[in-house]
Amino acid sequence: MGSYFFSCPKIYFGEDSITSLSTLKNKKVGIVTDDFMVTSGKTQYLVNFMPQASVCIFGEVKPDPDVDILQAGASRFKPFKPDVIIALGGGSSLDAAKGIKVTLEDYYQDHTIELIAIPTTSGSGSEVTSYAIISDPKNGRKYPLIAAELVPDSAILDPYLVLTVPRQVAVDTGMDVLTHAIEAIVSKGANDFSDALAEKAIALTWQNLPRVFNDEKDIQARTRMHNASCMAGMAFNSAGLGLVHGMAHAIGGMLHIPHGKINAMLLPLLIEFNSENAAEHTINRYAQCANIVGIKQDCPRQSIKQLAASIRKLNAFFGIPSTLKTLGTDITALEKLRQPLINAVLADGCTGSNPRRPTEQDIDKLITLIAG
Ligand SMILES: NC(=O)c1ccc[n+]([C@@H]2O[C@H](COP(=O)([O-])OP(=O)(O)OC[C@H]3O[C@@H](n4cnc5c(N)ncnc54)[C@H](O)[C@@H]3O)[C@@H](O)[C@H]2O)c1
Ligand SMILES: [Fe+2]
Repeated sequence: MGSYFFSCPKIYFGEDSITSLSTLKNKKVGIVTDDFMVTSGKTQYLVNFMPQASVCIFGEVKPDPDVDILQAGASRFKPFKPDVIIALGGGSSLDAAKGIKVTLEDYYQDHTIELIAIPTTSGSGSEVTSYAIISDPKNGRKYPLIAAELVPDSAILDPYLVLTVPRQVAVDTGMDVLTHAIEAIVSKGANDFSDALAEKAIALTWQNLPRVFNDEKDIQARTRMHNASCMAGMAFNSAGLGLVHGMAHAIGGMLHIPHGKINAMLLPLLIEFNSENAAEHTINRYAQCANIVGIKQDCPRQSIKQLAASIRKLNAFFGIPSTLKTLGTDITALEKLRQPLINAVLADGCTGSNPRRPTEQDIDKLITLIAG
């Protein structure tokens, strides 16, 4: 086994964490966000904490950002030459900001830009990762870019910013957190550091996501979910992800399904697929995940069965369907996309760290299962 390196941004968390922005003083600050963050006053909330800074806002990010959005953002900031870029929003805004930052650095050549990520959903973990997921609308593909320059310099986890996340978005993004953590634990790249963070993220999500679902204003549960999301991000940034994400990028990109929702739907299927005839190591890893959520069985295979069943039950409680048919997806459109989907899954950067190497036929079968 090779050696591992673990690094992460400075993390400010908790109720007063946003006040750390006051250190920006007279810097030139570019904010990358979406229309909702501007019109809802959340962008101004941030600006109020850095009264001496000069600010330029790009508020046009759309879900699943594409290259055109990166170009538009970079063009807005070019004459301004920001010292700092603040990424404010869900995974889409965070990933767009990362892409805009590296585009600008490439343009200026001799000017590095500090990147501060302020997530407003508890899901992607993008505030601490070297990933940016960029879409290509021409072929409906989503590409994970992975580079050290994409890791933000700091992350601010302000629980008040997530209080307005609608219940359905909260559960979709929360199930993305659970998927990140479970995939990090069973990934080929798992290590002691990623395990510690992933285990805690599973426990926090299991306890707190149902609480958020039952009461969207539960600030304590929102805070714990925000921390869990960041921990799961740190875990998978070190360990890698797996086939749930490989398939979710392909299916979600081509059929336009929210990232967390398609992950949640695929997760129990992939637990079953990966543990079929699996090596003892993988079985023990999944059994460990089961143990964290309170499943105590003498037989590890029994625990894994129960883990998949418990995730299906949780999905049902959250109103997340188990098949694309029930979700209302056009199955004829899906059939036409079957081969491109299989190719995209095999080419996805996350598929490589899955504990079981899938064949084309395996993916074909899994697509049939998720289609319903
Ligand atoms: N870079 C990574 O490491 C990484 C990891 C996982 C996923 N992703 C990517 O992140 C994206 C998904 O991110 P997401 O799940 O956070 O969704 P998102 O960023 O697309 O946001 C979903 C919706 O929630 C709204 N929203 C965000 N914050 C809100 C708030 N506080 N109150 C009310 N509404 C709010 C947004 O305006 C948007 O309409 C996908 O493109 C996915 O591929 C990236
Ligand atoms: Fe994800």
